[in-house]
Amino acid sequence: MNLIAAVDQNWAIGKDNGLLVKNPADMKFFREKTTGCVVVMGRKTLESFPGGLPLKNRVNVVLTANRGYSAKGAVIVHSREGLFEKLKEYGGGEIFVIGGESVYRMLLDECDTAYITKMDAKFEADAFFPNLDEQEGWEIASDSGEKRHGDLKFRFLTYQNRRVSSEIAE
Ligand SMILES: NC(=O)c1ccc[n+]([C@@H]2O[C@H](COP(=O)([O-])OP(=O)(O)OC[C@H]3O[C@@H](n4cnc5c(N)ncnc54)[C@H](OP(=O)(O)O)[C@@H]3O)[C@@H](O)[C@H]2O)c1
Repeated sequence: MNLIAAVDQNWAIGKDNGLLVKNPADMKFFREKTTGCVVVMGRKTLESFPGGLPLKNRVNVVLTANRGYSAKGAVIVHSREGLFEKLKEYGGGEIFVIGGESVYRMLLDECDTAYITKMDAKFEADAFFPNLDEQEGWEIASDSGEKRHGDLKFRFLTYQNRRVSSEIAE
């Protein structure tokens, strides 16, 4: 299972149920990585998308405790266990955890690869990703080098979770 997120210097990811900044290069990267895959998200992240609509050309799996919740074009699950049951139906395909904070935290230990767009900036925020530089087992496997969108400097980092990767290899 993979995870993909854009974070600032403080590992902030969002404010008022929206992203911190619009970065077209990062949106393109996100689209290229996740198209054709299963994307797993919390209900609030789904509702943060334009029109509250699922992402095109992906299987959108949405977590909510609300049994009456429905969203056209999305697969709804109601618990961590329900999520893993549902994911068995998509066996073999790539799965990306796409947020938000609560879902990243819940599934971090299940992931072997994290695609992190690290922004060289600090924003006011109310949602955060766990600091992978302080998380045991996680290490940077690749670094795109510095990129720019206007004044915003950022880099595409790939982190690997040594613990999960070694379990897969066994
Ligand atoms: N920078 C990035 O890459 C990135 C990516 C995605 C999101 N974000 C940001 O993250 C923020 C949202 O994060 P968030 O933590 O507030 O919301 P979230 O994780 O998107 O959604 C939280 C909701 O998901 C449901 N949920 C989570 N775990 C569940 C479980 N185990 N069982 C059943 N339902 C579960 C609950 O829905 P119910 O309340 O309906 O029960 C919960 O309220 C926003 O600011 C968004 O823009 C940033």
